[in-house]
Amino acid sequence: MRILVIGGGGRENALVWKLAQSPNTDRLYCAPGNAGTSRLAESINLKSSDIDGLANFAADQKIGLTVVGPEAPLIEGIVDRFEARGLPIFGPSTDPARLEGSKSFSKELMFRYGIPTAEYWSCQNAEDAHAHAKAYFDIHREPDAKLVIKADGIAAGKGVVIVGSETEAHHVIDEMMVKRIFGEAGDQIVLEECLVGEEVSIMAFTDGYTVVPMPPSQDHKRIFDNDAGPNTGGMGAYSPVPVVPDNIAELAHEKVLQPAVDAIRDLGIPYKGVLYAGLILTKDGPKTLEFNCRFGDPEKLYGGIAYIFGFILQIGNDFI
Ligand code: AMP
Ligand code: GLY
Repeated sequence: MRILVIGGGGRENALVWKLAQSPNTDRLYCAPGNAGTSRLAESINLKSSDIDGLANFAADQKIGLTVVGPEAPLIEGIVDRFEARGLPIFGPSTDPARLEGSKSFSKELMFRYGIPTAEYWSCQNAEDAHAHAKAYFDIHREPDAKLVIKADGIAAGKGVVIVGSETEAHHVIDEMMVKRIFGEAGDQIVLEECLVGEEVSIMAFTDGYTVVPMPPSQDHKRIFDNDAGPNTGGMGAYSPVPVVPDNIAELAHEKVLQPAVDAIRDLGIPYKGVLYAGLILTKDGPKTLEFNCRFGDPEKLYGGIAYIFGFILQIGNDFI
């Protein structure tokens, strides 16, 4: 089979590296690729946002499977457009990808289907957001009280800010909703209670019914030694994660991933691909911080990818 990987980061390097080992892989392409992927896959000069260009390439080259790395093309509907042309592709279509594409959609779904997560307030305008932030800090007067402010849409991993005062909250709300530093991604925002605990990522493969989790992993999240600085998009990751309970993947499967996949199917928009749950292990149990509709980056779960891609390629296109 000829395989096309879309993206140009560390995640795509891991995908290419593993796919290259399958006896079912005849030829590998990566668009746009990078120096690492180019050792095993031919780099194609097409951006991941050029969905028509990628679909034309896949059709011309008779690509048997396209694997999408980043979230933006998934949210923009690359899967729907490939499938409309009969091109096999791995990932969720645009509606279920809203689990990552809209924080308020994902929070509403979690609350509606009893998936454990933080309290939240979805705000459509700055006045509303300012009022909720004021009310939050009026109630939470303890000196270490914190509020999480999230742009609703995707903002290149920078759309979440944790503030420690009402003044800071008003400033961040204005930046997002009035100055629109994240563009339309911040036209709606979510305010969330701040949770405390170890963070862990659990990614799972799903065909819309069955959910198969991979081993847990953890990002190096905060900048500076001893986690002294603010959160980054992740500066590396490790697996296994010694600080989380052994049964965390099963717990996440039962309480978060399977209910989310069942819920989204219930809404008539079945999810297939990789569903990634970002969890925080609070003293009241695991809670869901976010869903992503793709493999993690920088998490490079060679083991999980090795196992599952072997499995997918064995059973062929029925799974995807
Ligand atoms: P998200 O994109 O929603 O995962 O947020 C990015 C990061 O912000 C997470 O990995 C956490 O480190 C932090 N974060 C998000 N929501 C919360 C929350 N409710 N409480 C504490 N930290 C959070
Ligand atoms: N590891 C963070 C992310 O993939 O979004």
